[in-house]
Amino acid sequence: MNRRETLAIAPMLTALAIATHSTSAAAKTTDVKIDPYNQTPEQEARHAVRLPKLDQQSVQDFLSSFRAAIGKEFRPMRAVLEKSLAAKGLTMDADISPEAAWTTLMQHPQYAMSARLWMSTQQQMWANIYGIFHANAEAVLAELEKADTSGPGRLELNPDLNIPDYTRHEIHIQPGGYVGDPFAGAISHYGFKQFDRNVFNNDRMEHHLAMAQETPIPADGQVRRILDMGTGFGAFATSLKERFPEAEVWGIDVGAPMVRWAHYRAVKMNLDVNFAQRLAEDTKFPDGHFDVVVSYIMHHEVHPDVQEKIVAEAYRVLRPGGSFFPVDFVTKGNPRYMGFGDIMRKASIWQDHRYNNEVWSPSYRETDLPGLMRKVGFTDMKVSAKTGTAFQDVLGFKPA
Ligand SMILES: C[S@@+](CC[C@H](N)C(=O)[O-])C[C@H]1O[C@@H](n2cnc3c(N)ncnc32)[C@H](O)[C@@H]1O
Repeated sequence: MNRRETLAIAPMLTALAIATHSTSAAAKTTDVKIDPYNQTPEQEARHAVRLPKLDQQSVQDFLSSFRAAIGKEFRPMRAVLEKSLAAKGLTMDADISPEAAWTTLMQHPQYAMSARLWMSTQQQMWANIYGIFHANAEAVLAELEKADTSGPGRLELNPDLNIPDYTRHEIHIQPGGYVGDPFAGAISHYGFKQFDRNVFNNDRMEHHLAMAQETPIPADGQVRRILDMGTGFGAFATSLKERFPEAEVWGIDVGAPMVRWAHYRAVKMNLDVNFAQRLAEDTKFPDGHFDVVVSYIMHHEVHPDVQEKIVAEAYRVLRPGGSFFPVDFVTKGNPRYMGFGDIMRKASIWQDHRYNNEVWSPSYRETDLPGLMRKVGFTDMKVSAKTGTAFQDVLGFKPA
């Protein structure tokens, strides 16, 4: 067959591929096993999250180790606080608001010190990373510009996107938030690793790789297109591409600087992943386009009015039999949901909401996410809490 003939049948092959997309006749997808905690030297080099200079990374490592120590060693024991509450005529399960719980515990000097250290070290962590990128702004922007039009994957920015106000907060007190700083993606990338150190190890993207390896797939085993909503710096999307190298993978995010960095990172990794500045509640993808839709810690950062729209959008863009796997904090509707809990838990939720700027997190926790998924049509639901963490896995399938 000559080249002209090959080109002529290309559209037919594409049409055939689309036609067979919703059937289970085609072969199963290649599914690559990666052990996140025993990576090869090549994998480690590809996944390493390290600031350019040793002294820069050392500052971060000091701060994250210190924060781990605050969490484990310095936080006052429950018994100490119980005694202090008793002196005020209160018990741990007193019926007071989260704000009152916070102001009450802050009267204990040891609690106040650990809370202050927690926030101050986080401010320093952001300031360090922010300073590095802004001090080299011109050079970094030039690098980004070069990557914008490089492959293998595509970058789609949308300067006309109507950015919802609810996304403009500086969540986690990240300077500029996700949409207001040109280096937001880079800042998140290096900063989140430090958060992850409290729960998971993510120095070499272990956590994202593990999530990708654990992501449930449709019963027919076919994974041709994957969507990661609220992709941030794109690590879940690239980890899914590593697991399913033949799949077309998309990561979308409201923040232009987020997808710009995600694309830059994927170009460096030579991974064919597409990133687009789009909203999870309005993805612009056709009906039934994806086999798998995922998200990681996006839902707790969106306005309560939008939760159902996002879940319905995931349902719409999935093909029959497709799976939706949003990973985030435990919510109502999960048997492990504890509500606002006792005074210590209430105070910690208040601190996170008020001082860590997790504006939407309390309303998210009160949203029955599994219930919303059932409401829009998902079936075969599985809801579980990840042991030892604040996270839940929720899984639902679009009926085949
Ligand atoms: C905590 S970050 C999660 C990052 C990423 N999923 C990861 O694996 O590290 C939440 C992300 O969701 C994005 N986001 C929030 N609301 C969104 C929306 N309505 N549509 C798309 N992205 C959104 C934010 O811009 C941010 O990048």
